[in-house]
Amino acid sequence: MTGTDIHTAAYLLKHGKLVAVPTETVYGLAGNALNEQAAASIFKVKNRPAFDPLILHVHNLEQMKRYGRASGKLLESLVSEFCPGPVTFVLPKKDVVPDIVTSGLDTVALRIPDHPLTLELLQLLDFPLAAPSANPFGYTSPTTAKHVGDLLGDDIHYILDGGPCRVGIESTIIQITEDDEIEILRLGGLSVEEIERAAGQPVKTVSGSSSKPAAPGMLESHYNPGIPVYLDKLSELTKDFSGKKAAVISFRTPPDGDFHHTEILSKEGDLTEAARNLFAALRRSAASGAEVVLAQTVPDTGLGRAVNDRLKRAAVR
Ligand code: TXA
Ligand code: MG
Repeated sequence: MTGTDIHTAAYLLKHGKLVAVPTETVYGLAGNALNEQAAASIFKVKNRPAFDPLILHVHNLEQMKRYGRASGKLLESLVSEFCPGPVTFVLPKKDVVPDIVTSGLDTVALRIPDHPLTLELLQLLDFPLAAPSANPFGYTSPTTAKHVGDLLGDDIHYILDGGPCRVGIESTIIQITEDDEIEILRLGGLSVEEIERAAGQPVKTVSGSSSKPAAPGMLESHYNPGIPVYLDKLSELTKDFSGKKAAVISFRTPPDGDFHHTEILSKEGDLTEAARNLFAALRRSAASGAEVVLAQTVPDTGLGRAVNDRLKRAAVR
């Protein structure tokens, strides 16, 4: 069932059930993070490997400190600058957080989502919500309630409909090291430039290796829309695939030629708008009946870096 009633959502969550919730980034598949059974059903419904830990969603810094060991001025200032917002902090974990949620790591990922319905919902609960993106593991993340219904509708009790997601790609994951360096474990909805500006220091993007990524779930192949995605110059790709029914995803302008389906991420060339449209564009392309998606990268600055990261992973086979 889909609706906008946070009390129904709260009731179900208190009884260990799963509810899809809107956030500013993507929809999450939420359950009581302190209830091991609820956490286990998140992994089961998503078909998610046990090594891939979940993000905890809370509504303020005080709550964050209940579950993670938060110390230092840098964290406090980043939280006050950007939260609620599209950023997740990896902190040393406190014992109250079950190991299943963190996949046995001694750190926990926490964020304060910037969506009015979900913030209100969190205030009705005395536990944090563990919520990965509400898609089967490896697939494109949902940015509307309808996407969630299409992907997981049969397996969840309630979808809280908060409209289309404003940011459209997942949160940026940050870890602050002991010597106050900022490491980005996943590019996302908060740009590297904004973090550097607020922190007044450069940040490092760490990706780890493809078999052992910095964020354990950041596998090389991810965000699969259901048909093969090819990423290169569009002029090259459209030649190579001239015999195929192609869906073309372009940044600003339609490519030359006649295609089965065309998506423009942002006519104005706005990278924030491109990020917002990306997952829906991938999803519509696959639903169009096309055999392949042909796409090219966007300028590699601001949110463009996170868009390119998603496109590259979607194109890995
Ligand atoms: O925007 C978002 O972050 C969305 C919304 C729903 O909040 N959530 C989301 O969750 O993207 P998910 O599960 O799709 O991705 C969580 C990522 C995974 O790559 C996971 O490995 C990483 O966070 N992660 C979780 N706990 C971690 C930890 N302790 N250390 C490093 N990475 C962690
Ligand atoms: Mg995900």
